[in-house]
This record gives sequence, C-alpha cells and structure tokens, in this order.
Amino acid sequence: MSSKAVTLLSGRCMPLLGLGTWQAPPGVVQEAAEVALDAGYRHFDCAYFYQNEAEIGAAFQKKLGEGRLARDELYVASKLWNSFHAPQDVKPAFLKSLMMLKLDYLDLYLMHSPMGFPNINGELMPQKDGLLLQSDVDYVNTWRAMEELVEEGLVKSVGVSNFNISQLERLLSACRIQPAVNQVELHPYLTQPRLVEYCKSKGIALTAYSPFGCPALPSPPGENRPEPLLENPTVNEIAQKHGKTSAQVLIRFHIQRGIATIPKSITPSRIVENAQVYDFHLTDKEIQTLEGLNCNARFIKWNLLGMETHKHFPFGDQ
Ligand SMILES: NC(=O)c1ccc[n+]([C@@H]2O[C@H](COP(=O)([O-])OP(=O)(O)OC[C@H]3O[C@@H](n4cnc5c(N)ncnc54)[C@H](OP(=O)(O)O)[C@@H]3O)[C@@H](O)[C@H]2O)c1
Repeated sequence: MSSKAVTLLSGRCMPLLGLGTWQAPPGVVQEAAEVALDAGYRHFDCAYFYQNEAEIGAAFQKKLGEGRLARDELYVASKLWNSFHAPQDVKPAFLKSLMMLKLDYLDLYLMHSPMGFPNINGELMPQKDGLLLQSDVDYVNTWRAMEELVEEGLVKSVGVSNFNISQLERLLSACRIQPAVNQVELHPYLTQPRLVEYCKSKGIALTAYSPFGCPALPSPPGENRPEPLLENPTVNEIAQKHGKTSAQVLIRFHIQRGIATIPKSITPSRIVENAQVYDFHLTDKEIQTLEGLNCNARFIKWNLLGMETHKHFPFGDQ
C-alpha cells in the first residue's frame, strides 16, 4: 500500500489525508475535529477565513489534554487571508490563528491566495458597490514576512495556495525559503497536469482541495456543470469494483499519486468513511480513466465579485 505522508522540502512530513474545515460551522466543527482525531486523522486544514479556528483549537486542547495524543503527532495548517498581505499585517494575523488554535507553533502556514485586499479594520471581504476592493501588495513581499515566521520558530513550513506556474516561478526566483506546498483545487474534473508536473519538478508538494468538487456549493446561474463527481457513473463503477464508496475512490485518486487531500465533512460517519482509504489500490488504468474525466471544471469561483480583474488573479481559465 502507498505511503501515508509526503516529505516536504523542509524535511518535515505532511500526512496525505487531512480534514477540510471550510463551511464547517463553529457549533459543530469541534465535534467533527474530535471524531476525526479518534478516527486517526492527524492533518487539519484550517484558515482564518473559515472563522472556526477557536472551536477546532478546543478539540486539539481537549485531545492533547487527555494525554493520548502528542503535539508532534498532529499536523496543523492555517492560512493567511487576503486582507493581511501587507507585510506588517502578516505576523499579527498569524498569531491570531495560532492563539485560536491554542497551539504554540503551526506545522504549515499558507498564503491563501496571491490576491491581496486592503486591510480595512480587518474586514474579510472589503467591498464597495458590490465589488471587492483590491490591494496591489506584491505577494513576494507578503512571502518575505511569512519567511520570518519560520525563522522565528513560529511555523515549521510555509507554502502557498491558488498560485499558478508563473506566480510560483516568480516566487522561487525571489525567496529565501521555497514554498513547501501549493494547495489548489484538484479532482478528476480538474486535474491540472501542467501545474502538477511543475510542482513535482520543483519539489513543491501539492494539496488537493475540494476533492469531491465541493458539492455543497450552489451552481452559479446559467452555468452548465458536469454531473456531481460523487454521482459520476465512472467513479461509481470503480468504487463498486473495489467494494468502496465514490468518496473513498476520489480520495485514493490523490493519495496514491503522492498528493495530499483534505476532504471536508462534519458528518461523523463520513469522517470515518473518508479515512478508510488505505485498504485498496487503484490500478494504473483506473487512475488514467479517472484522469480522463478532466473537463477543466473549477468549482471554487474566485472570479465572483470581480476578482478576475485583480492584478494577481491566478486563473486564466475563469
Ligand atoms: N485553499 C483554498 O482556497 C481552498 C478552497 C476550497 C477548499 N479548501 C479546503 O479544502 C477542503 C475541502 O474542500 P471543500 O470543502 O470545498 O469540498 P469537498 O471536500 O470537495 O466536499 C465537501 C462536501 O462533501 C460532503 N461529503 C464529505 N464526505 C462525504 C462522503 N463520504 N459522501 C458524500 N458526501 C460527502 C460534505 O458534507 P458534510 O460536511 O455535510 O458531511 C460537504 O458538503 C475545505 O474544507 C478547505 O479546508 C481550500
């Protein structure tokens, strides 16, 4: 069976399976995190933007306090939100997440996207006339402030999210510490082969977000979407062959290729189901068949609210 972790450029190991926590409401996410810890999850994907880090931190505090789990067995990632890209805002934003997560260091801190917003009283989505306000802070300068967090021992690794190849190239040519991870949307409908190859060639690990295509998000009006990934007959057929669920196949699709993934669930039975992915093996042909479903369908719509006009908008295909 395949490895359960990927070794990052920093030399540290990141578990390939993590729990996603976006849209996990504060009232239920603590229990979800506790169920996940009991089910063997050790990697948690958090973000200031998700507005639920304090409750996830309560789950860590409880389980670490019981003494059966050590801090160094946990792998906790958080993300710097777009409103805090100005270099002087980076450390205060980081420290807020650290405090809410009730930890004294993080394993990974990601720049949530290359696109900065102005910091207007800490607003997450500063808007005027229904459009998001944009800042022209250069993500390279944001990155330099993130590198300082590593040098101060506050975080073990730093990385990025939603970066395209040219943005990665630019960052690589300017950085002291290379980004360890690029977290991007990846699933059989959006396989991004060029980006995956590029990251591999530079030793940048990938984390696949929205492995099920984020089925909870409503389809924007007028958009012609493919059928939900979890209901795709090809995925269902492969799942049946292995006596597994479609969700398990979609997770296995990544981890078998050394790509980390962070399925989100707040449903205890699904949290457990999504972790049972190390007792079967997809054949090369099955992987190719899943890759063949690629139709460049991006479900996380960063282009909403006028963001496609941002100087650092990373998705030319939106
Ligand atoms: N860096 C970024 O910009 C970015 C963007 C998007 C996402 N992310 C990260 O990636 C994580 C995962 O992506 P996502 O939340 O967009 O969506 P996802 O993981 O593709 O899908 C989550 C949805 O699938 C349902 N689900 C979970 N397990 C299931 C199963 N076994 N069977 C059927 N349905 C199941 C969940 O429902 P229940 O919860 O009701 O069980 C939820 O509605 C996020 O939570 C976040 O941590 C990062």
